[in-house]
Amino acid sequence: MTSNLKIVAVGSGKGGVGKSLLCTNMAIAMALSGMKVVLVDTDYGASNLHALLGISNPKFGLKDIFQQKNLDPEDFLLNTGIDNLKFMSGSGDLPGSANLNEEQLSRVHNLVRALDADMAFLDLAPGNAFANMDLFNLADDQVVVCTPEMTSAMNTLSFIKTGLFRKISEEFSDDREIHDVTDYSRHLGSEEEIFEINRLRMKVLDKDKDALARLNSVIRNYRPHLVLNRVRKKKDLAMGDNIIQLSKKYLEVETRFSGYLVESDRVHDSVDEMIPFLIKDPQSPPSQNVQKIVGALTQMDIHLVKKDDAIYVSKQVKLTAGWGS
Ligand SMILES: Nc1ncnc2c1ncn2[C@@H]1O[C@H](COP(=O)(O)OP(=O)(O)OP(=O)(O)O)[C@@H](O)[C@H]1O
Ligand SMILES: [Mg+2]
Repeated sequence: MTSNLKIVAVGSGKGGVGKSLLCTNMAIAMALSGMKVVLVDTDYGASNLHALLGISNPKFGLKDIFQQKNLDPEDFLLNTGIDNLKFMSGSGDLPGSANLNEEQLSRVHNLVRALDADMAFLDLAPGNAFANMDLFNLADDQVVVCTPEMTSAMNTLSFIKTGLFRKISEEFSDDREIHDVTDYSRHLGSEEEIFEINRLRMKVLDKDKDALARLNSVIRNYRPHLVLNRVRKKKDLAMGDNIIQLSKKYLEVETRFSGYLVESDRVHDSVDEMIPFLIKDPQSPPSQNVQKIVGALTQMDIHLVKKDDAIYVSKQVKLTAGWGS
């Protein structure tokens, strides 16, 4: 097992904003650059990542993940036809499959953690249900996808907020008082629920300085990447700035703007054709956008070029910083 596994989760507050497309093409870019990558479909209620990869009927899916308990995680991994890229499908028409129980969720977490790979890309279901947020928070790099629309931006902020408070309540799992006031799942509507950072800090300060240091460290280390999709004009990028400013102001979260993806027929057509746009033309505008986004995540400059039906890669480590900084 490679202990250097880096987990990247791609989530969003609103559905249909381009998570699966971005996640698939990012995973492909990293695989083509020579990393051993696993793409994981965790949208169990509406799994369709296999279709984006051109796989009509995945041989292993949801049922196998939960029923075949003694299989090695490797056994679930499907070939994608792309060098270095394996795929773990969540497909399967099981009624209620969006509502996994705790045991099933913990099995998914364990499977992901045990992957023998350099990187795992998790394509999440939309929205801020806890099962989803827990996968988001499992990742080393957390990518939240948003479009320039106001509704998407509002849901993005609430997604970041839920993720942060989930992380805080987990950090304080040994401290009933703080855990309970930050745990949305209780949602008692009581005055004791605190979902504002300043009030929470006062409450924690009442306890002791160590607790305050712990709280500050969770907030400081919670630094999701923001990717804006379906960008049509330069003005659309302002929505990225707004989200970053608002998450800083109200949540004290340093969201990082990690790139954008243009609105493009090539992206749209890639779904119907079941061919990832990065494979079809690595130099098209959306493909170049993806290369920039993975560059922001990994601190590497990656350039892909297609010649005589083969894809060639050049990559260079940026000198300024390490992974995920
Ligand atoms: N940059 C883009 N240009 C054009 N169309 C796009 C772009 N991004 C997404 N789309 C369209 O949006 C659709 C939804 O994309 P995708 O399935 O990746 O979203 P999602 O966030 O994973 O959805 P869900 O929340 O249902 O999982 C695509 O099928 C495609 O038609
Ligand atoms: Mg999706």
